[in-house]
Amino acid sequence: MRVTITASQLRLGMYISAIDTSWWEHPFWRSSFLLRRQSDLDKIIASDFQRIEIDTDRGIAPESAASLSDAASPQTAIAVDPLPAVAEPAAPEPAPVRVRPTRRREDAATRAAETVQRSKFAVRRMFGEARLGRAIKPADIAPLVDEIAASVARDPGAIISVCRLKNKDEYTYLHSVAVCALMINLGRHLRLDEREIRDIGMAGLLHDIGKMAMPDGLLDKPGRLDDQQTRVIRTHPEEGIRLLGDSDELMPIARDVCLHHHERVDGTGYPFGLTAEQLSVHARMGAVCDVYDAVTSNRSYKPAWSPSDALSRMMTWEGHFDPNVLSAFVGSIGIYPIGTLVQMSDSQLGIVIAANADEPTLPCIRRFYAVPDARFLAPKDGAARPAPHPDAILRPEDGDRWFGRDWPAIAARVLAGETVTGELFGATGHGAMPLIGMRAA
Ligand SMILES: [Fe+2]
Ligand SMILES: [Fe+2]
Repeated sequence: MRVTITASQLRLGMYISAIDTSWWEHPFWRSSFLLRRQSDLDKIIASDFQRIEIDTDRGIAPESAASLSDAASPQTAIAVDPLPAVAEPAAPEPAPVRVRPTRRREDAATRAAETVQRSKFAVRRMFGEARLGRAIKPADIAPLVDEIAASVARDPGAIISVCRLKNKDEYTYLHSVAVCALMINLGRHLRLDEREIRDIGMAGLLHDIGKMAMPDGLLDKPGRLDDQQTRVIRTHPEEGIRLLGDSDELMPIARDVCLHHHERVDGTGYPFGLTAEQLSVHARMGAVCDVYDAVTSNRSYKPAWSPSDALSRMMTWEGHFDPNVLSAFVGSIGIYPIGTLVQMSDSQLGIVIAANADEPTLPCIRRFYAVPDARFLAPKDGAARPAPHPDAILRPEDGDRWFGRDWPAIAARVLAGETVTGELFGATGHGAMPLIGMRAA
């Protein structure tokens, strides 16, 4: 007899005949098999599957399993409910993302790698079917987004690092997984609610689906694209909207990010040249996450930048990103490159002088400048503290905008532990301020 149970009711010795998932393509999930290994059981429990069909003629029945364990409660006991031929979750309200307990302690990076591997297959299939005209439904991809969200919750650094390791054949799919993870991580950092976080995760997963409509060979073409090829590749946001279709069911956030993730706040992006006030915060989040993953990945035409290098360079790209979103992103990644200029909550400027391995968002800061007084201070070192606190990092700053062309010399002196003195023209505040008379004390 076939019965449907939840993952928490699953026990070794049961025969799995089907798992209720629409998009899972990993061979493990497609097989019917006798559950013998604890590691397989752990993988299923760690996933977000709502229903699993077992065959009690070929394995142990739930009743006997329940008598061997303390997990099954009357409320969660067996529902004799065969899987429907077309399984679609009916409830539109997404469940909050939660991290399931695991029975076997596994290294976070290993688990992240497994998530990324499964996600890659699922995205490849999803994109392939979209190319063939099949409409994408949120319910189809919600389990995938939830698993990525769970991985981000366990260890954001692990999944983001694994996603950086792409070869050219899998770039588009893993890039989609990476942007999904980065968007979720940024959403959590911004304390968005879990429903919105799921929506922006979906948006990250789908943002480049239009690349499925690009001519063969164009996406991985070695070397620079010529003008005609560039014009074609720049149609991928609008092609993405075409592939997503006009289903009301599809999240508006996903459509927004798909269409606008290559816009820039100064109006020089594509496809429409929209400016900051015309772009949603989700589109601006997508732009930052998209570029960060692209530049930290090896491509056929350029090597990867390190995360700290990427953040440093992105912070200098005037007009490209929303500076507030970029600042939040830096905080969400938890990487402040050494030498980064930051403004503290008490309106002093400091330079990051050391990372904090245990608390990446709380590096060691050397303060050297008081903004209200427009004067340099004797260097003072201390670890950043979580907000709200005077020693909390308010945001990363652009040294060139504060100190002009003297910034490299000032940074070098501060990093060397020297006191800098000088006079500034103009009012204090955020903006370019020519510096004269600077000298080391
Ligand atoms: Fe794109
Ligand atoms: Fe992208």
